[in-house]
Amino acid sequence: MLSNKNIVLGVSGGIAVYKALDVVSRLRKLKANVNVIMTKAAAEFVSPLSFQSLSQNYVVTDMFDEPKTWDVEHIALAQKADLFVIAPATANIIGKIAGGIADDMLSTTVMATRAPVLIAPAMNTNMYTNPVLQRNIKTLKDLGYKFIEPASGRLACGDYGVGKLATPEDIVEGILSFFKVPSVKTLRDKKILITAGPTQEPIDPVRYITNHSSGKMGYSIAKSARERGAEVTLISGPTSLEKPCGVEVIDIITAEDMHRAVLEHFENSDIIIKAAAVADYKPKEVSKDKIKKRDSDLSIELTRNPDILLELGRMKKDKILVGFAAETKELLESAKSKVHRKNLDFIVANNITLDGAGFKGDTNIISIIDGFGKIQKYDKMKKEDISNIILDKIYELIKLKE
Ligand code: PMT
Repeated sequence: MLSNKNIVLGVSGGIAVYKALDVVSRLRKLKANVNVIMTKAAAEFVSPLSFQSLSQNYVVTDMFDEPKTWDVEHIALAQKADLFVIAPATANIIGKIAGGIADDMLSTTVMATRAPVLIAPAMNTNMYTNPVLQRNIKTLKDLGYKFIEPASGRLACGDYGVGKLATPEDIVEGILSFFKVPSVKTLRDKKILITAGPTQEPIDPVRYITNHSSGKMGYSIAKSARERGAEVTLISGPTSLEKPCGVEVIDIITAEDMHRAVLEHFENSDIIIKAAAVADYKPKEVSKDKIKKRDSDLSIELTRNPDILLELGRMKKDKILVGFAAETKELLESAKSKVHRKNLDFIVANNITLDGAGFKGDTNIISIIDGFGKIQKYDKMKKEDISNIILDKIYELIKLKE
């Protein structure tokens, strides 16, 4: 899957160095060429020979090693890299890159590379939350460096909190997604039903009630799910988006149409993701003729549409059910209550008032809340990256149920 890809892996010193061996091993299985650069501190934790044996390439630790080729080593590796990954990345190496310091083989090669750099931090939680480190991460993110966020849990020092190196599986996933290679977290043999876009509720033959949904979020999930091998049915409100390749698309107009189409496909689906923005209300009467302008005000009486997700929650059984929540205030509280009320595995909450979140754009800012009330917040990111976060979470749920 990664043949012809040159990945330079920078390993800096921390207890998580041993996990980088697993990353190398997984990358080799995917046929990547891996060159490892270790800091001196990293080599105190694990011998370079272990990395050399797994990568089948000479491991560089010292700027002043006897060169193995006539290339200037840090320049040669910097130029060779299609992707530069640093895992684990200590506060020290992050600080050096952010500060423009190049005083050893790893920091010098990062400075010399034009390849994209993916950084997986690992450190004590107080170090990770230190404002200096957070400022350095922000500086690097602003410059286009990518990060694989650390996990939370019990750290090697005994503390609990954020700072654990992402799992080797997640690091490799990040690398695969960078190269746009389908995830190894496959959804093959899974039937996924996704809803996307707005609904339109007619008032008369000319006018309707709708909302700002473009369908981008749901279409992106459908495309990523298809790329992971799932059989995808997309029930779509009116959008101007191109239909994703290999996905069965069912076009609908109103919430009632969506209700019917979803119920028709529900039994045959393993996973249902409701990203559509469904109108809660529709005009009680639809005028057969165009409503004429008058001098007086006009009132339109509205009546409730079915709450499709609520209904699915009642019929759920062992299916995986994921909802979205678009809110303008009290985001987490109302999303949490929807998880319980609608019997969801998790909900993806977006505060649509934030810049770069919600309707129409290519990015979103989400929090995921699961059935145990656990909340995971994410920075602003592309809708396609959010799709992968959602599908990874579904993959984990499937593994738990197996
Ligand atoms: O399409 P984009 O422009 O990319 O924008 C993405 C999005 C903002 C539309 C998307 O991220 C999102 O938040 N979708 C859900 C919007 C919404 O309707 O939220 P809600 O809080 O009103 O509904 C909660 C959940 O119930 C949703 O999963 C919704 O699909 C479902 N619902 C709502 C009403 C209803 N009558 N039936 C439903 O099934």
